[in-house]
Amino acid sequence: MTTLTTDPLASLLDRLFAEAAVSSPMTHPAVAALSPDERARLMRSRTDYRDLYGRLKDFPLAVSRETGRLLYMLARGRGVRTVVEFGTSFGISTLHLAAALRDNGGGRLITSEFEPSKVARARDNLAAGGLIDLVEIRVGDALQTLSVDLPETIDLVLLDGAKALYPDILNLLESRLRPGAFIVADNADDSPDYLARVRGPANGYLSTPFGEDVELSMRIG
Ligand SMILES: C[S@@+](CC[C@H](N)C(=O)[O-])C[C@H]1O[C@@H](n2cnc3c(N)ncnc32)[C@H](O)[C@@H]1O
Repeated sequence: MTTLTTDPLASLLDRLFAEAAVSSPMTHPAVAALSPDERARLMRSRTDYRDLYGRLKDFPLAVSRETGRLLYMLARGRGVRTVVEFGTSFGISTLHLAAALRDNGGGRLITSEFEPSKVARARDNLAAGGLIDLVEIRVGDALQTLSVDLPETIDLVLLDGAKALYPDILNLLESRLRPGAFIVADNADDSPDYLARVRGPANGYLSTPFGEDVELSMRIG
């Protein structure tokens, strides 16, 4: 038995994924009003990401069920104790990662989110899942909140915030990555600079595309 597959978490995730499935941002006027080009530009922008995510603040934008399960398995299989997450939203990915920490005997998960209403929902979900004690949610732009007070070593990273910032967030965390640490980057195709970095043979990573639009990388340096 695992925390992931037993209640309260199993039922909670069923409900959250069901809600996410019927909540497409594309139907929201503030998003639908954007042309495909403008949407693509905002997705890759290093400066306008607050505008984009402000429009998306009522949407979970969660990892898929498959990616959630992958996160749990990677964290569990490696006996991970320290996790940093960029992009909390409603906490669906966070729940998977915290469940793995629980089943590994404990640990520390730092996650980051700048939309206060999302932070409130994530806290509620983590409390309902019985996992809030393992999670520190840092409220504000991750460029600032993840620049201080990090664990000495980091075992696993999830990158799932503004795509253009993936290289910057990696810069903040890289010196603390344990050799063998996994970095999971969701929707990494929208971050070509990040992909070039983790796939570049001289940059200290092994990396491969995995599943639907996930880049799975391992620190070897
Ligand atoms: C794709 S969603 C995260 C989904 C979440 N990982 C899950 O699976 O449940 C991205 C989130 O990152 C947040 N975000 C984007 N850029 C950020 C930044 N620079 N700092 C903090 N939060 C950010 C957005 O507000 C949004 O809620």
